[in-house]
Amino acid sequence: MRNNKTVLITGASSGIGYELAKLFAKEGYDLILTARRLERLNHLKESIEATISDIKITTFTEDLSEENSAEELFKKVKDQNLNVDILINNAGIGDLSYFSEANIEKLSKMINLNILGLTKLSRLFISDIKSSEAGAIINIASTASFQPVPLMAVYAATKAYVKSFSLALAAELEEDKNNKAKIICICPGVTQTEFFANANANPLGLPEGFIASSEEVAEFTLKTLQQGKSGVAVHGKMNSLLTLASRILSNKFSNYISLKIMRRLEEKL
Ligand SMILES: NC(=O)c1ccc[n+]([C@@H]2O[C@H](COP(=O)([O-])OP(=O)(O)OC[C@H]3O[C@@H](n4cnc5c(N)ncnc54)[C@H](OP(=O)(O)O)[C@@H]3O)[C@@H](O)[C@H]2O)c1
Repeated sequence: MRNNKTVLITGASSGIGYELAKLFAKEGYDLILTARRLERLNHLKESIEATISDIKITTFTEDLSEENSAEELFKKVKDQNLNVDILINNAGIGDLSYFSEANIEKLSKMINLNILGLTKLSRLFISDIKSSEAGAIINIASTASFQPVPLMAVYAATKAYVKSFSLALAAELEEDKNNKAKIICICPGVTQTEFFANANANPLGLPEGFIASSEEVAEFTLKTLQQGKSGVAVHGKMNSLLTLASRILSNKFSNYISLKIMRRLEEKL
């Protein structure tokens, strides 16, 4: 049944964002879905509406790596008199390459999307979110936020930003006694989505049991929100152990393990 709350999901045209849209729809949220591929968003909207008829779904195309795109998206939302209770900053890209050979244009897009777009959307929607009884910002970071990742150096650094930013914002809001908004940072490990193909990597080089499905990560995200607390949440026992290890091990050893794993993603291309 409709709950009269609205969730804005970036990167809803595939992978984790796509599954989040379906799950939040089942929970009765109105949806604002955005990505570059509008036809995919509209197809998702139609397939949800075929089974759930009492929620409102709005789709917007936006390339969030472009300058002023966050402001444009905010304007489109406001022009339709929509209010956002929950913002899920999910859109993100990676790139598997040695930094000295990396494409500068792709690196710029990654930084713009993973960092700048997420930061600006958070800033633009924070008033809406703070004034909602059910307000939350959910940032999709990664287990890569816990340690440097050779071959994905810039990607991991963008995700370290997302984790650091989320924790600091949560601390600022917790100081405010009237604030109810939660700031949640989700850290998935390797997840089977279009992410790896777009990043020139192949997760099939990794051992079985290491790769989660996008449905599992989406369910974990919703469950974490329902726990009602701000903070960082790592998906999966294996990933939790690895992130713990990265905090205990020396940088040198952690980088050695990380490089070994990343080479497996590269080998199978
Ligand atoms: N898959 C993993 O192993 C993994 C692990 C940890 C964290 N994550 C994080 O999870 C999040 C979701 O990724 P995913 O795995 O679900 O990958 P995905 O299937 O490739 O989905 C990425 C989404 O982001 C959108 N997107 C990409 N570039 C965009 C741009 N310039 N402007 C607006 N939207 C854009 C894509 O839509 P369009 O192409 O239609 O724009 C797509 O909907 C990302 O932040 C990623 O870093 C993934």
